[in-house]
Amino acid sequence: MTKITFSLIKADVGGFPGHSSVHPDLIRTAESHLEQVRKSGALIDFRVMSCGDDLELLMTHINGCDNGEIHAIAWECFEQATETAKKLKLYGAGQDLLSDAFSGNIRGMGPGVAEMEFNERVSEPIVAFMMDKTEPGAFNLPIFRMFADPFNTAGLVIDPACHQGFVFEIWDIMAHKKVFMKCPEEMYDVLALIGAKSKYVIKRVYPKSGGKLPEEEAVAVISTEKLFQTAGTYVGKDDPAGLVRSQSGLPALGEVLEPFALSHLVSGWMRGSHNGPLMPCSFETAHPTRFDGPPRVIAAGFQLAFGQLVGPVDLFKDIAFDLARQRALQITEYMRAHGPFEPHRLPMEDMEYTTLPHVMKKLSDRFVPTE
Ligand code: F6R
Ligand code: MG
Ligand code: MG
Repeated sequence: MTKITFSLIKADVGGFPGHSSVHPDLIRTAESHLEQVRKSGALIDFRVMSCGDDLELLMTHINGCDNGEIHAIAWECFEQATETAKKLKLYGAGQDLLSDAFSGNIRGMGPGVAEMEFNERVSEPIVAFMMDKTEPGAFNLPIFRMFADPFNTAGLVIDPACHQGFVFEIWDIMAHKKVFMKCPEEMYDVLALIGAKSKYVIKRVYPKSGGKLPEEEAVAVISTEKLFQTAGTYVGKDDPAGLVRSQSGLPALGEVLEPFALSHLVSGWMRGSHNGPLMPCSFETAHPTRFDGPPRVIAAGFQLAFGQLVGPVDLFKDIAFDLARQRALQITEYMRAHGPFEPHRLPMEDMEYTTLPHVMKKLSDRFVPTE
């Protein structure tokens, strides 16, 4: 059986207004490009979505991960959307396209990439998560809870198909190294790393060997691109996206969504420089305007049918997430009251890649030794 690849590639190529949302013309531009490509046979199916100011391309195909042809399609799509953004003088047109020319692989060129290749199961429920005004490490807590926390995922305790646990691929995004660790056996070590979410990020989750699912096929993947690392300076937000497969030996749909009821604290709000609650919200309300936030996450639910995307369902639209939103708003008030003080503002070492060093430079020769 031919394996299906699910690619979610995203970029901010212009905000409307400011950094708050994506203009409908950008979505139309991307859709008409991808429709042409689909007709040519290079894609099985696609959806164009948005979260905040990020344009999100969801594509299915049979080319595998990291495929030059598919990445070129996404790049062309972002270039065309940039042209539309320039005509409308949208804010930061083309901001995440860090290079003028595509060089075969979109990784390291600005856009965020989350891709998985797998044999489509008898029934394949899959959730695409898209976040705005935050960073890849924002996924650490929810992904850990889905695949390793028995207080979140009942299946880890009571479903023999989940009971043996999962393997986490964790990246040190500063040192560009990775490690594979097993849960529950190495749970405390996993947490020792991923609690430091600006350095260690969960990249993928795999089933263990001997289970219902093939051990080499990822069941979750997160985009881990850090824009400042690619560009060498702060050029915008590394708003991440992720894909999670669900059910039949994997966390149930409700177990996949449950961690987001916390509205946990993440960094990346206002100027990429503040901590705030990650608010789960509907597609319609994913337009961060309160102090450019608070950070948002949307969840698009699909069933795959031979690579066709059946969906999306707007999963956080459910009123059962209303309380999480209320809580996020209360946390928003509390955090905002701290103004420029930590821990609302990020610690100094995380501000290194923002505009703050330019301000600090001005003050540096005013310092004299203390007694
Ligand atoms: C962008 C973001 C925003 C901007 C802020 C300042 O996604 O997080 O909070 O950093 O609006 O933007 P500039 O410097 O473009 O005026
Ligand atoms: Mg923007
Ligand atoms: Mg964004």
